Amino acid sequence: MNPPLVDTFGRPMKSLRLSVTDRCNLRCSYCMPESEYRWLPRSDLLTFEEIGRLLPRFVDLGTSRIRITGGEPLLRSDLPVLVQRVAALAGVEDLALTTNGVFLAREARGLRDAGLHRITVSLDTLSPARFRSLSRSEEHAKVLDGIVEAGKVGFSGLKLDTVVIRGVNDDEIPALLRAAREWSAEIRFIEYMDVGGALLWTPEAVVSQAEILAKVESSVGPVEPLRDTELSAPARRFRTPSGQVFGVVASMTQPFCTHCDRSRLTADGTWYHCLYAPTGVDLRTALRAPGTDAELVEVLTSAWKKRADRGAELRMELRNRAPSVAREDLRADPRLEMHTRGG
Ligand code: 5AD
Ligand code: SF4
Repeated sequence: MNPPLVDTFGRPMKSLRLSVTDRCNLRCSYCMPESEYRWLPRSDLLTFEEIGRLLPRFVDLGTSRIRITGGEPLLRSDLPVLVQRVAALAGVEDLALTTNGVFLAREARGLRDAGLHRITVSLDTLSPARFRSLSRSEEHAKVLDGIVEAGKVGFSGLKLDTVVIRGVNDDEIPALLRAAREWSAEIRFIEYMDVGGALLWTPEAVVSQAEILAKVESSVGPVEPLRDTELSAPARRFRTPSGQVFGVVASMTQPFCTHCDRSRLTADGTWYHCLYAPTGVDLRTALRAPGTDAELVEVLTSAWKKRADRGAELRMELRNRAPSVAREDLRADPRLEMHTRGG
């Protein structure tokens, strides 16, 4: 057994966010506010065979948690075929999917049968009208159906992700908490981040963890932090007086770079070591060139050993924060977009 691979800060390569498409059927204001996007060329998207060759190399180097993301991953055709392949890999202890939920009612059964372990649904509002203005979509009811269906087909440990934005949905925190309890889901309230693509971001729109907790407490009474939280987990978890557990992802006010064991693979095979990283490692070229698996392992190993990213912490030191990437730069390189990097 080799010694575990760690980066310059001693962080292992434990979790991978695997984006299977950069496309999305929604246009959430905090992620895709523009009217037009440049998509990754189709011929650049990794095939399931290519992903199937790459992932075991990640697993060999310590990756045991994989989350399939997009854009919207359910837009990728035959996704259950990929899920089945990844679920069958020895060493994959946790296989999750993040979805906006619109196609979930239709897909939940197939994903479950394919061996997917867990699902996270993005849900920012309980109001169809708000959903329309926030995501430019009429499909709110389908998202709610998707959440219910996921439970029916046997997914337990369902999670909901809510990006909290001041003046947009911060008044819904208590109602979302109640809805999560009814669905037996664990909700996580996420601080609005200034990541690539979030061109409408302003510091004033951020609702901090402290404010989120105050809003929860004004509705349900004092909450207590859970002790069990894994250091590398982005969410800090809390318990309400009635025993309901929920999380807060405080990437803005309490970044967790010190323990970040996560990397991201875009659908075109570019490997990023940080949400804020300007550049990534081109694995597609390595995959498509004649070469051995050992050579791929070497590319992964040497890049991870050099990893020194702490993007969220560095940004916190900035005095005047504004969206992290300019519109022109997003146009020139769509991989700077959060939706291309897998949320
Ligand atoms: N701030 C915080 N989270 C974001 N996401 C996308 N854009 C942002 C942002 N600006 C995350 C959310 C969403 C997932 C798909 O990506 O968690 O639910
Ligand atoms: Fe919304 Fe997720 Fe689509 Fe971004 S990728 S527009 S957050 S549904």
